[in-house]
Amino acid sequence: MTKPAHSPTLVVCRDDQHASETVAKMFADLIRTQADAVLGLATGGTPVPAYRELVRMHREEALDFSDVVSFNLDEYVGLAPDHPQSFRYFMQEHLFDHINIAPANTHVPDGLSNDSDEHGRGYEKKIAEAGGIELQLLGIGHNGHIAFNEPGSPVDSRTRVVDLAEDTVQANARFFESIEQVPRQGITMGIGTILESRRIVLLATGSGKAEAVQRAIEGPSEPSHPASLLQQHPSVTFVIDDAAASHLA
Ligand code: F6R
Repeated sequence: MTKPAHSPTLVVCRDDQHASETVAKMFADLIRTQADAVLGLATGGTPVPAYRELVRMHREEALDFSDVVSFNLDEYVGLAPDHPQSFRYFMQEHLFDHINIAPANTHVPDGLSNDSDEHGRGYEKKIAEAGGIELQLLGIGHNGHIAFNEPGSPVDSRTRVVDLAEDTVQANARFFESIEQVPRQGITMGIGTILESRRIVLLATGSGKAEAVQRAIEGPSEPSHPASLLQQHPSVTFVIDDAAASHLA
């Protein structure tokens, strides 16, 4: 596959909390220097403490989100925004409802769109019209997925509907009452969309992510491990804790 052109910056923190605070500070520093920054945001278990820290900074340090614009990576197909397991609901619960971001400035793909191709194109257009994403937050799946770009996703993929890998359905079942309730499809920014962000920060914590992190950084850059395609971007920082760094050479 394409030769990796760049090595990511690696920040290894002593624990999950420290890693989360490091990521929150990257976003806060950006917002303080550029009040109308365009942020790319992620959901899942990993970013929750980082969002908690941003909420604290808003309350205690007057971190001002009033001109900030955000675009989330993905959403489950079939879940309404007010469904407690939808990613829109997650963002309201963990961040948006606790800061002064303008609701109209927050964007999450629509899991109920009946024309997903058109919706995907429109989402990309909105990102472009906002000036592109300045700093994109990513997590990583055990199988190396970024957003809902599962293994095999092309490097030039755009916002689209995808089938979720069995591994992803199983990993996300912890948020639902039963595995049967986990949607089987998602609408996600593509790898190409993500690689257009000016800066990317991938947050990974815990030993369960160690192998995926090792392959992303030290493995070949190829679609079988989507996070390894980040090697093709000039400004990626991996912020990880000791446990997630434990498989690195
Ligand atoms: C969610 C997303 C996913 C998660 C990944 C890790 O918006 O983009 O790729 O980042 O599945 O999820 P957690 O953090 O729950 O381990």
